Amino acid sequence: MHAVAFIMKKSGSNACLLLVGFFVFAAGVRSQLTTDYYKTTCPNLPKIVRKVVQSAIMNETRMAASLLRLHFHDCFVNGCDASILLDGSDGEKYAFPNVNSVRGFEVVDAIKSAVESACNETVSCADILAIAARDSVVLSGGPSWRVSLGRRDGLVANQTGANNNLPSPTDALDTIISKFAAVGLNVTDVVTLSGGHTIGQARCTTFSTRLYNFSGTDAADTTLNSNLASQLEALCPENGDGNVTTSLDQNSTDLFDNHYFKNLLSNKGILFSDQELYSSDAAASTTMSLVESYSNSSYLFFQNFVNSMIKMGNISPLTGSNGEIRTNCRVINS
Ligand code: HEM
Ligand SMILES: *[C@@H]1O[C@H](CO)[C@@H](O)[C@H](O)[C@H]1NC(C)=O
Ligand SMILES: *[C@@H]1O[C@H](CO)[C@@H](O)[C@H](O)[C@H]1NC(C)=O
Ligand SMILES: *[C@@H]1O[C@H](CO)[C@@H](O)[C@H](O)[C@H]1NC(C)=O
Ligand SMILES: *[C@@H]1O[C@H](CO)[C@@H](O)[C@H](O)[C@H]1NC(C)=O
Ligand SMILES: *[C@@H]1O[C@H](CO)[C@@H](O)[C@H](O)[C@H]1NC(C)=O
Ligand SMILES: *[C@@H]1O[C@H](CO)[C@@H](O)[C@H](O)[C@H]1NC(C)=O
Ligand SMILES: *[C@@H]1O[C@H](CO)[C@@H](O)[C@H](O)[C@H]1NC(C)=O
Ligand SMILES: *[C@@H]1O[C@H](CO)[C@@H](O)[C@H](O)[C@H]1NC(C)=O
Repeated sequence: MHAVAFIMKKSGSNACLLLVGFFVFAAGVRSQLTTDYYKTTCPNLPKIVRKVVQSAIMNETRMAASLLRLHFHDCFVNGCDASILLDGSDGEKYAFPNVNSVRGFEVVDAIKSAVESACNETVSCADILAIAARDSVVLSGGPSWRVSLGRRDGLVANQTGANNNLPSPTDALDTIISKFAAVGLNVTDVVTLSGGHTIGQARCTTFSTRLYNFSGTDAADTTLNSNLASQLEALCPENGDGNVTTSLDQNSTDLFDNHYFKNLLSNKGILFSDQELYSSDAAASTTMSLVESYSNSSYLFFQNFVNSMIKMGNISPLTGSNGEIRTNCRVINS
């Protein structure tokens, strides 16, 4: 509760940045989706989703991060079609980047149930993920935007797609850039959306290769701040519990701000893939200058984050008579 009260107060002081979000939207991104898609069929949809997301975050602050990540992991695999929500051992939930990692499925169920009570068989699970991601950013003190809607839900999950398409924390920058390019996102989007790591947690297993014998050097990654390396070694002993977590942004864990980028300037990125944006050889000609700009301007970061989130939300949506409106987000309709 205490942490959330802090977040609410903070988001009030960001009111002007919130307005910026709307103007960015007005600049427009072309797509088949529209922001008023459910205007007549489910007019209270935004309020219904916001209320459930808010109570989930009040119960557990980290849920904001988990819901933001769910939308990202959905969109990178077969497009934003809620395929990540499908149960089953051959589903995306059990793909390597997701298993024991993605979370928030119960909250999505709660949102879906509230939405069905108000306007049944109308709103897709894919759209719910997009709205919940936006609400999570806003409730963490970040920018707001009008979410493009009208996605339909996919009929298949793609575990192979999840294993192949999702970026890995040990990927080099050029690999990350290609994985984003494969879904139509560019270098600006890579840097901007990586700023999602301003909230949330990472498990020891996702960064422990940096700590003890990085690339066979018998030492920690030299692009990891040495004090931070010591702290992380204490938290994540060799052969310890790989599920222990730490904050991706050690400075302001639950606040959506530009500290993620400031951290990179002092070698305090947690994941190898985070620090690559600033410290790799490839960064000098691609991502480094944008990291510096964002570290200096949360205004610019917020403005670009809104653009990139709308762009990510537009990855290969199912529309028209493709897919379906799932009744239960975990299973396709019978
Ligand atoms: C650039 C490539 C990316 C890589 C390699 C990456 C990798 C990771 C990893 C390894 C974790 C920790 C997972 C765990 O410990 O189980 C994580 C967490 C997270 N990621 Fe990313 N990610 C990337 C991009 C993104 C994007 C584009 C977003 C959203 C805009 C995002 C949002 C998050 C959030 C919010 C968390 C924390 C989730 C929680 O606490 O539940 N990430 N990411
Ligand atoms: C509240 O969060 C805890 C984890 O901190 C979780 O176990 C519990 O299910 C959540 N309760 C509700 C009602 O969401
Ligand atoms: C949706 O609501 C209509 C009208 O209230 C009802 O006839 C129908 O059975 C409902 N569908 C489901 C799946 O609950
Ligand atoms: C699953 O994703 C892969 C990309 O990794 C793609 O080639 C394949 O067509 C997808 N399969 C289905 C059933 O959508
Ligand atoms: C990435 O795409 C956006 C439009 O979506 C564009 O404004 C930006 O300049 C592009 N960045 C790069 C590095 O091409
Ligand atoms: C460090 O890794 C290298 C190769 O990756 C390996 O040959 C070496 O034995 C490792 N050192 C230790 C102390 O585990
Ligand atoms: C994390 O916990 C899960 C479930 O309890 C377990 O199956 C898995 O092996 C653990 N992973 C690591 C890296 O320790
Ligand atoms: C966060 O960063 C600011 C400088 O930007 C610094 O003054 C403050 O001590 C840091 N707080 C934590 C908890 O690291
Ligand atoms: C930040 O902005 C100031 C002036 O606005 C400039 O002097 C400085 O070089 C910038 N720093 C970075 C890292 O971009």
